[in-house]
Amino acid sequence: MSKIAIAPTVIQELNRQLNHELGAAHAYQALSIWCAVRNFTGFASFFAKQAGEEREHAGKIIDHLVDRGVTPELAALPAPRQNLASLLDAALQAQAMEEANTRGINAVFEAALAAKDYPAQVLMHWFINEQVEEEAWCAEMVDRVKAASCAGSLSDLDRHIERHLADDEKA
Ligand code: FEO
Repeated sequence: MSKIAIAPTVIQELNRQLNHELGAAHAYQALSIWCAVRNFTGFASFFAKQAGEEREHAGKIIDHLVDRGVTPELAALPAPRQNLASLLDAALQAQAMEEANTRGINAVFEAALAAKDYPAQVLMHWFINEQVEEEAWCAEMVDRVKAASCAGSLSDLDRHIERHLADDEKA
């Protein structure tokens, strides 16, 4: 276990963010279910993988806290939104979640800067870069769903969405 001190403000922010990541996993699972029920199997698969990635993100923060002798506190997760109106609504929901997540990551980084917590700053460098990728695939998904103007083109997009977004989403 590390003996590098960690400020209460940084613990609080890391705890908040790890629960946010778990909430994102829950929300992506809900998007995956919504898509699967409507036979958008490509989107369902993409969102299911995204749920797994969000759990990995939470795990990175959990490992960091544990290594520094802090017990992470898991909060109750809010029920995710499931009453989506359309595939575009689902894509916009993903985009709104990632934009909120970027704000959360920035808040952790600012707390780590203020506390001169270098290990937490370096941990957040990974997340800051990750959010560039996350916001890129969201924007591309929104653009592509908007461009698919009929049921046939949405079905075609569904078949190829994972390949289309593979360059943005590598983590
Ligand atoms: Fe954990 Fe979608 O970023």
